[in-house]
Amino acid sequence: MLQMDTMQHIEVIGIGAGNPDHLTLQAVEALRRSDVVVALDKGDTKADLLNARREIVDKHAPGTPIVAVTDPERDRNPADYKAEVERWHQERAQLLLDALPAEGTAAFLVWGDPSLYDSTLRIIERMRGLGLNATVTVTPGITAVQALTAAHGILINRIGEDIRITTGRALVDGPMTNAVVMLDGGAAWMHAPDAEIWWGAYLGTDKQVLRHGLVSEIGIDLAQEKAALREKHGWIMDIYLLRK
Ligand SMILES: C[S@@+](CC[C@H](N)C(=O)[O-])C[C@H]1O[C@@H](n2cnc3c(N)ncnc32)[C@H](O)[C@@H]1O
Repeated sequence: MLQMDTMQHIEVIGIGAGNPDHLTLQAVEALRRSDVVVALDKGDTKADLLNARREIVDKHAPGTPIVAVTDPERDRNPADYKAEVERWHQERAQLLLDALPAEGTAAFLVWGDPSLYDSTLRIIERMRGLGLNATVTVTPGITAVQALTAAHGILINRIGEDIRITTGRALVDGPMTNAVVMLDGGAAWMHAPDAEIWWGAYLGTDKQVLRHGLVSEIGIDLAQEKAALREKHGWIMDIYLLRK
């Protein structure tokens, strides 16, 4: 259990988006100076993601213990949605706080980069509210955005154009010249029938799949392929660039 007067250190390390070789040299150094890795285990469907973290530790800092913290249960249909999310975040922060060693350095391995659609830095702020007294260092990582563009060998923008990074849910409402879409549970590209799409799933892993074409031509087929891949592997992570 945490001692209020003990100084701890947390390394928040961006580990890249799927390939263990995405780690920067800086990330490897940060991992090697950590005494323990604390990983949030999000259950069976994300088992591959926990395994990816194990692979990274085995490869770059063998012998470093991994403490897997099971993500607390969440009510998906609560009467008060905001209150339930607040309760869930608080419980998650407390579990992670309890898992930290009383002293020394703990590493949180963050998928991609900690700045992009990730809650680790927010959770650490919550942990401070619960009594954490730690210094924190953040090491950047290769994002899924970069994994996508490199896999297709493309730029996100044509010369001088702006770029939007958004979620499947928010895509519908906003402007779009070049939109990189993440966290799409479905096939939000169907809302942009006149766009070109560069799509990638399981980027950087041995399951990687890439597709490119006009939404009007491949959109429906891609939606079916995504559903089939999710069925086959039990989970999917995909990202895409839409350009008008
Ligand atoms: C919670 S966000 C985390 C993003 C991460 N922090 C980053 O920097 O890429 C998860 C989303 O990232 C995208 N993503 C992450 N890794 C991916 C991969 N290997 N292949 C395809 N999409 C990926 C998907 O859109 C997924 O829904």
